[in-house]
Amino acid sequence: MTWRSLFWEDDSLYLLDQTQLPHRAHTLRLRDWTEVVQAIRDLRVRGAPALGAAGAYALALAARSFVQDPATFWPRLREAAAVIRTARPTAVNLSWAVDRALRAAQTASDAHGAAAQVLAEAHRIVEEDERTCRALAEAGARELRDGERILTVCNTGSLATLGVGTALGILRVAWESGKRLHVYACETRPLLQGSRLTAWELQQVGIPFHVVVDAAAGWLMARGLVDRVVVGADRVAANGDVANKVGTYTLAVLARRHDVPFWVAAPLSTVDLDTSSGEAIPVEERAAHEVTHLAGVPVAPEGAPALNFAFDVTPAELVDALVTEAGLVRPPFGPALRSLKGGVRV
Ligand code: MRU
Repeated sequence: MTWRSLFWEDDSLYLLDQTQLPHRAHTLRLRDWTEVVQAIRDLRVRGAPALGAAGAYALALAARSFVQDPATFWPRLREAAAVIRTARPTAVNLSWAVDRALRAAQTASDAHGAAAQVLAEAHRIVEEDERTCRALAEAGARELRDGERILTVCNTGSLATLGVGTALGILRVAWESGKRLHVYACETRPLLQGSRLTAWELQQVGIPFHVVVDAAAGWLMARGLVDRVVVGADRVAANGDVANKVGTYTLAVLARRHDVPFWVAAPLSTVDLDTSSGEAIPVEERAAHEVTHLAGVPVAPEGAPALNFAFDVTPAELVDALVTEAGLVRPPFGPALRSLKGGVRV
């Protein structure tokens, strides 16, 4: 692996601009926290764990720029935190990481100390995610059988995290341990994270795959071509309901219809015990032009209205296992998630 979704160097946040992949691997250098917020909104950085780290670094850049005026430092920092944490509402890792960095700042005695604490916390979030992804991926990979054909959606690999990835990380670790696999990567309309990003990562690692249109999933299952569905998550509610890229719910319904195991891979940082069920998860709605245009080219009549929910919610009853860094969790999820979140520092 030669790419990283983001890294900190020379007092700046560097982001691999995911809107330009797979055509161009261009790294952006961002020095201002508002630029990071814009990059998050534009999906230049995306995927729940990567959003968390980007949010913490955005707060570090904000803190650094506010230290000159100690009198206004705290109100400005809290205001910036509120803007960053809502830049994308569904992935709970974003608000989780920003709140964590803000709490770290509050342990310092002055503004300079607070800015240093925010940056140190952002670095810790990155290091932890790398370890977490590895543990999660190994736990999932152990359970896969040699020769499985796995369907996935969106992008859940190194681009979406600070490590090997979650759902895609499982596939990668299994492949690198010698298991043969075949992956069906749903293209993931409207922004094509599957065909642009997952296919790109699979090619780099060398795992055999086909890109399929999202609507093909049912037919592939009906023909017996899918042994397991493995997806990521943007937020897992306390009862195990899962918000993930729109289309995930459809895959879960199809998987149940065809007796195909449906797994959700997510670090415990994506589990939100403060959200009791999927009904309370905020689902991001994005601009209509993402649906009516493809790479800037209209694919609908001018002025056609479009609904663009970026995520959907899969009820826990359709999920066969949650794969976390603490191992596989089987239903009923509620008690297991409560005890795992209580026992692991996340
Ligand atoms: O809109 P995106 O590309 O940020 O959506 C990402 C997903 O839905 C991923 O499946 C999820 O964040 C998990 S990433 C490990």
